[in-house]
Amino acid sequence: MAQRPIIETEQPDPDAVEIRSLRYPDLPQVIGIERRVFPTPWSLAMFVLEMSKQTGICLAAVSEDRLVGYLICSRYDTVWHVMNVAVDLVHQRRGLASALLAELYARVDDPAARYTLEVRRSNAVAIHLYEREGFRAAGTRRRYYQDNGEDALVMWRTPATLEGSLADVPDPGPV
Ligand SMILES: CC(C)(COP(=O)(O)OP(=O)(O)OC[C@H]1O[C@@H](n2cnc3c(N)ncnc32)[C@H](O)[C@@H]1OP(=O)(O)O)[C@@H](O)C(=O)NCCC(=O)NCCS
Repeated sequence: MAQRPIIETEQPDPDAVEIRSLRYPDLPQVIGIERRVFPTPWSLAMFVLEMSKQTGICLAAVSEDRLVGYLICSRYDTVWHVMNVAVDLVHQRRGLASALLAELYARVDDPAARYTLEVRRSNAVAIHLYEREGFRAAGTRRRYYQDNGEDALVMWRTPATLEGSLADVPDPGPV
């Protein structure tokens, strides 16, 4: 009888994932993930710029000393802009993006907070995730993505969207 092959799995224990602040020494690993998961990855300079903003929140998901995901959020006036969320390919579908978002809400610690983001219309996985998180589509930015001219869906998570309305979303537009 043939021996069963020993399959090396890269899946670490989900309970062992730590969410902490993103640090500059994480950036080489961030760039690696960014290039694996996005067709048009951010540059190192874009991450450095976002991390240098005093009011932003930048988070890392770390498993067994390896960076496996990250979230970048900037504050503009009273609104939190989720600029980037990514989870490395082999670690997706284990709740890490949800865990990063949960830590963001906890750090903002304001039930009146409003969050917004842009997402590619074709990114059904991300849209599903954000809808489950209480974000609602409230507009479109035409040809927002320069690589393929794709539209962006503008999504908001506010006290009103959590109740199913867009009442406190500024200038909601056609979706
Ligand atoms: C979008 C992304 C961040 C989600 O990360 P994740 O850690 O896999 O997300 P979670 O495990 O928290 O899953 C959230 C939801 O998305 C669903 N989901 C995740 N990956 C999926 C996939 N490949 N296909 C279908 N659904 C998927 C999960 O089922 C879950 O929903 P459910 O619990 O209601 O079933 C990740 O897929 C990613 O990095 N994608 C590439 C980068 C990107 O598109 N970022 C968003 C830019 S706006």
